[in-house]
Amino acid sequence: MDTIIIRGGKPLVGTVEASGAKNAALPLLAAAILADGPVTYRRVPHLRDISTMMTLLAYQGAHVHFDDQSRLHIDTRPADKAEAPYELVKTMRASALVLGPLLARYGHARVSLPGGCAIGARPIDMHLKGLEAMGADIEVEQGDVVARATRGLKGAHIVFDQVTVTGTENLMMAATIAEGETILDNAAREPEVVNLAESLRALGADIEGEGTNRIIIRGVNGIHEGEIEVIPDRIETATYLAAGIITRGDVTVTHAEPGHLEAFIARIRDAGVKVEIGEHSIRCRCDDPLVGVNIHTMPHPGFPTDLQAQFMALMTLARGTSIIRETIFENRFMHVQELVRMGADIKLDGNTAIVNGVERLSGAPVMATDLRASASLVLAGLAAAGETRISRVYHIDRGYERIEEKMQKLGADIERHSGDETWMKGVMVNG
Ligand code: EPZ
Repeated sequence: MDTIIIRGGKPLVGTVEASGAKNAALPLLAAAILADGPVTYRRVPHLRDISTMMTLLAYQGAHVHFDDQSRLHIDTRPADKAEAPYELVKTMRASALVLGPLLARYGHARVSLPGGCAIGARPIDMHLKGLEAMGADIEVEQGDVVARATRGLKGAHIVFDQVTVTGTENLMMAATIAEGETILDNAAREPEVVNLAESLRALGADIEGEGTNRIIIRGVNGIHEGEIEVIPDRIETATYLAAGIITRGDVTVTHAEPGHLEAFIARIRDAGVKVEIGEHSIRCRCDDPLVGVNIHTMPHPGFPTDLQAQFMALMTLARGTSIIRETIFENRFMHVQELVRMGADIKLDGNTAIVNGVERLSGAPVMATDLRASASLVLAGLAAAGETRISRVYHIDRGYERIEEKMQKLGADIERHSGDETWMKGVMVNG
């Protein structure tokens, strides 16, 4: 397993370019199942999760390839398998995003139920309930969702019990070629949902209301070939800005979308960060220690849960106390104990973390547990005195394209050692 080694204490200065958004690209790739021609994608990030989705589509019989201008081409016309096997789904929960499109296209689908994951149970009951409302029969057999809609899917009025991003996306895709009108109430408003709706419309879908909590989809006979652009990754963007902030540097992220990060920008401004907004760029400078501010994670446009761990890393070195409440996932504080190992002062009380700022952090061997927790450990390592060694960095590779290269470009003393097992023996014994 790879290890990332960071020698902290250097201010990060410079400019990096945001990649395409992982959480936009995944549903966009699944949408190719609905198209009756080849779909071309620009700005798909090179990440493990994207490779997994490409493998899944190829397994179903689609032709999938990157061209020499790093555009991704997917043609599902030759595909004939309405399945997503456990071997692939267990490595990526978002594989469940093929369920709605497969069922809409073939009238049946067999998709392995995603297991839980480090940050919570993360069931897909709302996805399944919505498909049943559209006329599907859903059974669970040997860990697989077996869905049938022999008479095709019919439009329905679906009200989500709570906001679900991939639930909204799955049902939006299923409704695209269902018969009649589907209304999704309490729909997710995330920019990735908007990217999907606008892209489906460009391929011939009849959708309105994306970005609000009511999305209306009128079924069409099919959607056609076309070209799609993935939006910038707002979570990656904020992570690099946080790297500049925590090291008291001066970082600009280009090819970004500031409008997707309003809640994050508001809170770092409250904490004392100087933020300059360009049309497609964000620059953060921080000369003095931050001031502790409180956050609670919410569905978009609230403060994103995917930035909670990174923001906590910032607050460990802020003046005063910060109260951080995680309202989306039941177990998204695994980074806390690792940050404490580095000298942070954090107490947990249920879904609330009380962070008392300290003068400095010290480098230490730590372990990545999930994608965004890993990012917070990188941030802490960049600010800490001494060396930080982060094991299990495969978590990071799921969501950050070439993280050490981009951080090196900003002046970080960071490197990746592959398979550096020797020193880990000690840590793993306690692990
Ligand atoms: C998406 O996950 C993102 N992943 C997550 O990003 C993100 O943290 C999350 O939305 C919230 O913004 C992708 O888009 C691929 P949810 P998703 O359905 O759709 C519960 C990252 O780091 N729920 O909005 O799976 C669920 O357990 C990842 O990039 C049900 O109970 O999240 C959670 O508590 C992590 N039943 C809450 O709702 C359901 O059927 C929100 O989940 C669906 C969800």
